[in-house]
Amino acid sequence: MVSGIWTEEYRPSKFDELVGQDEIVKRVQALTNSMNIPHLLFAGPAGTGKSTLALIVVKELFKKNWKENYLELNASDERGINVVREKVKNFARTKSLGEVPFKIIFLDEADALTPEAQQALRRTMENYSVTCRFVLSCNYSSKIIDPIQSRCAIFRFKLLEKKEMGKPLMKIIQGENLTITPEALEILYEGSEGDCRRAINLLQSTASVSSNITDELISTIISSTKPKDVKIILDYALSGDFQNAKEKLLDMMLRESISGQDV
Ligand SMILES: Nc1ncnc2c1ncn2[C@@H]1O[C@H](COP(=O)(O)OP(=O)(O)O)[C@@H](O)[C@H]1O
Ligand SMILES: [Mg+2]
Repeated sequence: MVSGIWTEEYRPSKFDELVGQDEIVKRVQALTNSMNIPHLLFAGPAGTGKSTLALIVVKELFKKNWKENYLELNASDERGINVVREKVKNFARTKSLGEVPFKIIFLDEADALTPEAQQALRRTMENYSVTCRFVLSCNYSSKIIDPIQSRCAIFRFKLLEKKEMGKPLMKIIQGENLTITPEALEILYEGSEGDCRRAINLLQSTASVSSNITDELISTIISSTKPKDVKIILDYALSGDFQNAKEKLLDMMLRESISGQDV
């Protein structure tokens, strides 16, 4: 039974559960163990473990107090850099709880900020560097201004390879009592294009229709040219509306076969 969002439910919570980014994990784990963390810049494509690694660091550092010492912000939030600065200020005002002398702020999609906004961010990072460490995430480090880059340890995440994605996917397949044919698994890897979040979302959409995952079902979802459709199926499934999820999928299959594609 589908109960929640699998990318959240099955998100790795330990360093050794993160696949494909071995060098990064090794270096970040060493920094975490030393309890001496510089500002970090996680660069790379979507769905490769950037947010997940930030969370693992925070949980390892602060243990049960992690929530009090962690602030997550999204730079592409339409309200802009001033809201970011305001939130950072409020969060940084109080001392960290526990042994670690700083708190951690995760700023997702930092490359969505204009260069001017990044200058403001840089000043904020400097002002609070004693009490806060920043973990910035971005798709392209080249879109981050040099003064910020030079203040961060930079880690470049890569797309996941087929063999690397097997572990997280099999964990879900077992945990959810699904069956999947080797061909279907192959198609799932291909369709994910190295993005683990996409692979998991595709798997969950398909599983909302049948727990026997065939290559036919998977290809139908993947070959649908509209990612929007996949989102709708997933939303129905998450709300427990399996009937609608199934209908939407059948509808898609019909449309595809009419358009002459190999379903
Ligand atoms: N390297 C990885 N190892 C294991 N699971 C991963 C990895 N990267 C992504 N995932 C899975 O995909 C989901 C999205 O990953 P996330 O860390 O949020 O990606 P992003 O790089 O976009 O921040 C996670 O919940 C996790 O289940
Ligand atoms: Mg992320």
